[in-house]
Amino acid sequence: MKINLALLKGDGIGPEIVDCSIEVLNKVAGKYGHEITYTALLAGGCAIDAVGEPLPRETVERCLASDSVLLGAVGGPKWDTLPGHLRPERALLGIRKALGLYANIRPAKLYTALKDRCPLRSSDGFDIVIVRELTGGIYFGESGRREGEGGTEAYDTECYSTFEIERIGRVAFETALKRGHKVTSIDKANVLESSRLWRETMHKLAAEYKNVEYSDMLVDNAAMQLIKNPSQFDVIVTSNIFGDILSDEASQLTGSIGLLPSASLGDGTRGMYEPIHGSAPDIAGKGIANPIATILSVAMMLRYSFSLSEEADCIERAVEQTLNNGYFTGDIGGNMTSREITEKILELI
Ligand code: IPM
Ligand code: MG
Repeated sequence: MKINLALLKGDGIGPEIVDCSIEVLNKVAGKYGHEITYTALLAGGCAIDAVGEPLPRETVERCLASDSVLLGAVGGPKWDTLPGHLRPERALLGIRKALGLYANIRPAKLYTALKDRCPLRSSDGFDIVIVRELTGGIYFGESGRREGEGGTEAYDTECYSTFEIERIGRVAFETALKRGHKVTSIDKANVLESSRLWRETMHKLAAEYKNVEYSDMLVDNAAMQLIKNPSQFDVIVTSNIFGDILSDEASQLTGSIGLLPSASLGDGTRGMYEPIHGSAPDIAGKGIANPIATILSVAMMLRYSFSLSEEADCIERAVEQTLNNGYFTGDIGGNMTSREITEKILELI
């Protein structure tokens, strides 16, 4: 297979971890006879420095012309004081929207090798997939500032259409059919009208998917249940902002946010794949970041965008074996560098 990838290495540890994951991808491609070409593009803080804007039009156009996009991380303290529309994070939001990537798939599972890194006193393991709506809700609703009686007011609006809810709901139910046949939809329907429409729409879908066990949960309770008993969850489906928060919470239960990959998908096969962690400016340039989340993101890309599940399995097995062999970076209590961990994974491929 010939694959043309857009690379957005981004800021902080982004370039380091993307480079590690490319080595892994090239090794797998060599083994299975695929040909991968890369186009490196500017996005985030590095784009602001180079051309004065976080998401140059050329980047969007070349991403649209690619088969898929691999992203490291964007942002850092250097750009923190810029106004909202010029911040590096705009690049992420802009690409998600421009590429129509409305479904964000964030798996969080506890590896056997990391059982004692799980901060919960007792955990019998868990394997959750969070399906987060990614191009709607408060992230993209009307927002602004105005003068009010109490001085300046600022507002952001949560708005969801039936179409958007049903579309993300289907992704969740279809995902559940391939796994544990269970969907938990998380909302705040006791307070928010947008959540009430969300819940009604999910109920209609649930009636269609009779062999999926469905339940609703309020987001505050969900935050608690994730800590209390994470193994009760299979697929979680939720809005953009709740998914943002809950996926960070879930990630921590796995022992490190440095392990978790993500896929952002739309209706076609092109997706964007990235670790769920950020640019970690505190350790950037030291060569000690955990490359596993990005390496596993590459595995997700092979599986979701190119239906290369054998190749994806090969990477996932090598990562799991590396962890089983006790090779860890600093974030999980080890002392290996990004390069050393990558070498271990390459050996097993
Ligand atoms: C994420 C990040 C982004 C988000 C930020 C950087 C815009 O936190 O991908 O979870 O909130 O979606
Ligand atoms: Mg986040």
